[in-house]
Amino acid sequence: MNNKIIIINGPNLNLLGEREQSQYGSITLEKLKEKCVKKSEELGLKVEFFQSNIEGEIVNTIQESRNNLDGIIINAAAFTHTSVAIRDALEIFKKPIIELHISNIYKREEFRQKSLISDIVTGGIFGLGVDGYILAIISLEKLLQNEN
Ligand code: DQA
Repeated sequence: MNNKIIIINGPNLNLLGEREQSQYGSITLEKLKEKCVKKSEELGLKVEFFQSNIEGEIVNTIQESRNNLDGIIINAAAFTHTSVAIRDALEIFKKPIIELHISNIYKREEFRQKSLISDIVTGGIFGLGVDGYILAIISLEKLLQNEN
């Protein structure tokens, strides 16, 4: 069965709904999780939803995912622009990975315009708001189906 996925959220995304609403909207992470679980279940996927502000915890989660999960959706948040460790962990995963950003990082400050993971992931979604999570789930399900 190719149907177990994880959605990984990096630092400060626990404050979704409170931080910079003009960039990230008003939905909370808890509500977003509910939407993601609903969509995943509709598509027959089992989903884990994870958030951490700690780089090493994200690296550990990616490492642990490699043996029992089939795909990753990751919004690495600020670590996107800084973390070689998260990039290396994702490279070890060897299964479909979708990079996701709520905002359009290429329209923002220069330091956000560089992603350290874009060139090693399967594909990416950015600038479409939190709907990007739903689109990423749909895309990942298709990628996993095509592998069967
Ligand atoms: C983000 C963009 C990052 O630059 C920022 O640090 C975030 C969120 C996004 O979803 O648009 O925390 O990944």
